[in-house]
Formats: sequence, structure tokens, C-alpha cells
Amino acid sequence: MNNRIQSILGVLAVAATSISMVAADKNSTPAYLDESLPMEQRIEDALSRMTLDEKIAMIHAQSKFSTPGCPRLGIPELWMSDGPHGVRMEIAWDEWDHAGWSNDYCTALPALTCLAATFNPDLAYEYGNTVGREARFRKKDMMLGPGVNIYRTPLSGRNFEYMGEDPYLSSVMVVPYIKGLQSNGVAACMKHFALNNQENERESINVEVGDRALNEIYLPAFKAGVEAGVWAVMGSYNKFRGTFCTHNDTLVNKILKGDWGFDGVFVTDWGSCHNTFEAAMNGLDLEMGSWTNGLSWGVSSAYDNYYMAEPLKAMVKTGEVPETVVDDKVRRILRLNFRTNMNRHRPYGALHAPEHLDVARRVASEGIVLLKNEKAKLPIRPGKFKRIAVIGDNATKKLSIGGGSSELKPKVEISPLEGLMEVYGDAVAYSMGYASGIADYSHEEPSPYDADSLRMAAVELARNSDVVVFIGGLNKNYKQDCEGGDRLSYDLPYDQNRLIDELIAANSNTVIVLTSGNAVAMPWLDKAPAIIQSWYNGSMGGVALADVISGAVNPSGKLPFTIAQRLEDYAAHSSDERTYPGVDGNVHYDEGVFIGYRWAEAKNIKPTFAFGHGLSYTDFAYSSLKADKKEYSPEDIIRLNITVKNTGHADGAETVQFYVGQSHPRVARPVKELKAFCKPYIKQGESTTCTVEIPASSLAYYNEDNKQWVLDNDEFTIFAASASDDIRQSISIKINNNLIALK
Ligand code: GLC
Repeated sequence: MNNRIQSILGVLAVAATSISMVAADKNSTPAYLDESLPMEQRIEDALSRMTLDEKIAMIHAQSKFSTPGCPRLGIPELWMSDGPHGVRMEIAWDEWDHAGWSNDYCTALPALTCLAATFNPDLAYEYGNTVGREARFRKKDMMLGPGVNIYRTPLSGRNFEYMGEDPYLSSVMVVPYIKGLQSNGVAACMKHFALNNQENERESINVEVGDRALNEIYLPAFKAGVEAGVWAVMGSYNKFRGTFCTHNDTLVNKILKGDWGFDGVFVTDWGSCHNTFEAAMNGLDLEMGSWTNGLSWGVSSAYDNYYMAEPLKAMVKTGEVPETVVDDKVRRILRLNFRTNMNRHRPYGALHAPEHLDVARRVASEGIVLLKNEKAKLPIRPGKFKRIAVIGDNATKKLSIGGGSSELKPKVEISPLEGLMEVYGDAVAYSMGYASGIADYSHEEPSPYDADSLRMAAVELARNSDVVVFIGGLNKNYKQDCEGGDRLSYDLPYDQNRLIDELIAANSNTVIVLTSGNAVAMPWLDKAPAIIQSWYNGSMGGVALADVISGAVNPSGKLPFTIAQRLEDYAAHSSDERTYPGVDGNVHYDEGVFIGYRWAEAKNIKPTFAFGHGLSYTDFAYSSLKADKKEYSPEDIIRLNITVKNTGHADGAETVQFYVGQSHPRVARPVKELKAFCKPYIKQGESTTCTVEIPASSLAYYNEDNKQWVLDNDEFTIFAASASDDIRQSISIKINNNLIALK
């Protein structure tokens, strides 16, 4: 065969191969789109196909709440939304304004303080699942929540978005929330990592805290969320030991991604990125909300100016930042894509479905805390009174709006007055009593009402009624329970204390209901026969409050934070500005692990109402607290049993709290710390046995010297309690490290 034919045949063979390859390519699915392949293999294949420009585009915003994905490869945009209590209304593409859609309503769940107060992890799952269903239906791939920062000061504007002062309670409640939400193929984004415990100077304050408090108090809930498989974590605005938390090598590279093995996306808070090189090298994966690189501050749609946009691309091109560093960021974002909007089998979700309202109602009614109830003022049975005076601005104020980024546009929001009128009909008469102005994030509008006439009218109504239900507290106005600023006082605002005094003087049959996300001073405490701590309870708040006041629901909420008598009784406020709000931009957590009840018990400070306090319309007796062994090795599980009897005249649920204290610690340790709880529902007259497990290792303390958790041989007392200051039973056990060797 001559050469010519051979060369033609050769060309034909190459052509045939490439055609078959093209044919194969055309018909065969690229690996990254092949659902039969493992996710990590698909991620690597997608990454291998991306250009540097495409990688850079993927790691920063394209709009206020979205990133571009990789259109050429069919990797979808990622869409995010606030907030922890429901799916926020749509925001404009490049401004903070509401987009004004007509179909972006939601179900407003109660604030997370209420969820924490339920001490009910099963409800936390239902809560997260409800938020996830609505997020999915609203086509969101990531929800910016839950928040799990610890309640260190009662002035912090965002405590209502978090789960209280105890790391164990927050850790137990955040896990089912995350799992429930992510079961819908929507990412939870736990926030704000870390140490966002005040709003004052939030975008610059530097937190100085020791390793022991960091590991025993401020990180556990985040660690629990990561171990539960949270798909995203949000950096906080503040600094830790001089470096912004959003690109902090210790917090992000060493602890979050190193020690804890977090494989998800670490995203900024909106505008919390401040430095390209630090962001690149200290573990930031996704930059949102920046107002560019400072050269063109505030320029709209300046996404290419973002720290991790053109400036980072330039550093990669010069070799200052290896491209592999960018690859790891893209890998994590692709993982988020594959977990969410590239998973074609995730549920479709639903929006303000009846069952969502039912979850909202059950969380609210189970989280409301009965603080005081002398002479059984409560419940108020329907029909018992001819005239019920409902007084207070918070009886009618819509509190799902305002408060900052957790604002919601609920399709339904039943106010306390509406809820009470639903139950008591025209026995209810209303008087405003005080006015708080509009819930405005940026500043507080002056109230258009005359305070004296409001107060006098309310007192007159109280005088002529059988019973008074005062509904006041805080609200979502700026410098109250609101993001971006802290409260200026521990007192109730708008002269409510004077109004409460005059109402009780006019009618001793007065029930005080406080709606808030924070503790307040209660100078009228001894005069008030009945007090309820209610929360920002969202769509069904009014129905839930009426459920509890009427006795349709027997209250079972427990305080997730201490209500101290005075502001100075809190550790953060016990010395000077160094510990709050800070001096010269630095705030020092000098109290270490001693916050909340840990502080009160160490200092013998009697609170108004203690952490874990909450009454019922029935009573419970505890007996037969037992541990399965006398001695445990650090690797053991401590199994406890206790019998609880409902000795009253109403069915109800009781949160049995188990605290543990070391008898002879080598370092200063809290008197006791919450390590387990259970919440049996018990019919009147009946008993039940609760069983809980406490890993012996959880009794360790963090030793700052050797950076290790240490569990000494020693005696430990286990307290079974109805509140941190209401111990019902106690036993002691021993920890013996030598038992390990015997195994
Ligand atoms: C806000 C909040 C954060 C929120 C984000 C987006 O500043 O700190 O919690 O998710 O920006 O609105």
C-alpha cells in the first residue's frame, strides 16, 4: 500500500477517534454531572475544568445575597437569605432595601431564645425543618442562621437571636435545628463565629478572652454544629486577639477547619472582610457584603473590587497566593452546590403551610416561661371574669419586623391582644398604656402619643376591671433588642415601671407579661402576683400566649439566661468599662468561664430569677436519683435515673436539669454546670423515670497551660434540679483515671 493511502488512512483513523470521542463526550455525562459518582470525585472534576477567572468569580458575591456559580459548567448561582427565625423578605439586588415582592411572605417562628427556653431538642428539629421547607420553596440554598453566640451581657442587642448563657443548652438545641433545616437540601450557616457577644462597636471591637473560656463557654455550640455536619459557618465582625474573626488563622484554620475538620463554606458576615491576603490565607471561602476594597468605598455593584476578587486574582498571578489556596475555597463552595442546588433529589419545600403555623405555636407556647404565680392568679379560665383589661404597647405591636437582619414579613402574625380576644371575647378591653414608636432599625422615631394620658387611661381601665394583663417589655427598636447597637439601660423603657406600679396599685389582680430577648430589672417584683417571660414569638405569638394564660397549655418553659436584680450583678458589668463595652476598642472577658449562673453562684449573688427557672400550673416531686456506678473512668458514660411525679392538678412537662460540680478542683471551677436535661410530659398523679447519659469526659475543664482538657481524679456531685437554684436531689460519684489502665 503506498504511503499516500497510508497517510490518508491515518488521518481518517485520528478523525474517527476524535469523532467517536466527541460522540462519546456528546452522549456521555461529564464526571461532575454524573450523579452515580461520589461527590468528591465530581467536585474534583468540576474544579479541574474551571479557569482562574471562574474560580475567583465563585468565591465572592454577585449581588447582596447571591454568588454566580459557574454558568459555563452549569454550576448554579447560590442564593442566601436571613434569618434564624424564618425566611426574610426579598432584598434588592445591590441595596439593603426590601425588593417589594408580593409573594415573599413567610411563617415567623419564635426567636431562638424562645426555642432555647423550650429545652426541647425534638422541637428544635421541627423548627429547623420548618425554616428549611420555607427556604427551599423560596429557592434559597443557604439560610443565614442559627446564631449561637453566648449571652454574656443583658444589653447585647442580638441576644434574642441566640440561645442563652449556657454552652451545653446551646449545643444541644443547635444540632437538631441544623439537621432539620439541612434535611431540605438547604444549608444552615451557623453564626457568628466567634465571640459576637455585644453589638457595641461590633465591626471593630477586639475581644480578649482566655483559651479556657473560649473552649468551655464560647466555642462549644459551634463545635457541636460542626460535628453535626453544618454546611456553612459565618465569621463575626469583631476581632479576636487583634485579628478579624472572618480571617483569623487561629479560629478558622487551626480550630474550625483543623481541629474540628469543618468541610463546609466559611463565609463572611456582610462586610466583615478587610484584607485580601489575610482572607486568602486564613481560611475565608466566600466574601459577601463588602463595600469593596476601600479604594471605592460604597460604590454600587462593585463586586470585582471585592477583596477576594480582582485584588486576589492579582496575587495569584504574582504567586503571592498559590492557586491551590483558591482551589480549596472553590472546592468547598462546589461541595455546597452539590449538597444543595445540584442535588436533584432534595425536597421541594412549602411556604406558610398550616403545619408550619402549628410548629410556630407549639414552640411559642412551650417556650413561654411562667416566672411567678402567687395565689394561682394564673391560669385565667375563660368565663371567669367579666372584664379583663389588656394593657401595653406590646399587646398589639408587630414584633417580627425590625431588629435588623432577622426581620421577617410574616403572612400571619397574631398579636397578644388578638390571641386573648380569640379566647376571652368581649370580656377584653384594651388600653395602650405606653407607646414605643416605630420599630426602626436606624433610629427611634419619637412617639406621637402623650405618655401621661396613655398611662392615666390605662390605670382607669385597670381600676374598673376584674383582672389586668399588662403586656410590655422591650421591642425591636434600635438600641433595644436590635442588631447593630446595645441597650443603654437594664431598665424597661418608656417609663413602664411607673405604669406597672400604678396598674398594680389600681388593681392588685395584675399579671405582668414581658416580651423581650433580654433580662430586665423588675423593681415591682414583690408587688406583682404573676409574671410571665414571653418572647418574640412570631406568627402565632398571640395564640400561644393566650394558650398559656387561659391554661389550654400548661407552661413548661425554663429561662435560658439569668435575670439578675441589677446590671452590676452580671460579670461583664461587675467591674469597669474594660469588661464592657471595652476601652480603646478592646473588651476583656476577665470573668473567664464565670458568666451567668456560673458567676452568680461563685459570687453568691441572688438573681431575681435563675437560669433554668420556670413554673408550671402543676407541681413535680423528684425521687430516687441514681447513677449506674460509683466510679467512672474518663472514657465512661455516666447513666442516671430519676423518678419524677406530677403531684398537682394538671398534666404538664417538667425539664429536669442535671448539673455537675467538682468537689476539690485544682483550678477555680463553677459550683456546678449543666451537663444534661430531660423533659418528660407527665399526667397529673402519675410518675415517670427519666434516664440521661453524661459522658464522663464532659466533666473535664480546659487547662490553659498545656492546652488540654483535664479530668482529675476527684469526687463530683450530680444535682438534679428544676432550676439552677432549685436543687431537688443530689448524689456523688468518683472519677478515677486509673480505671482506664484496668481495662
Ligand atoms: C448582618 C448580620 C448577619 C446577617 C448578614 C446578612 O450584618 O450580622 O447576621 O446574616 O448581615 O444580612
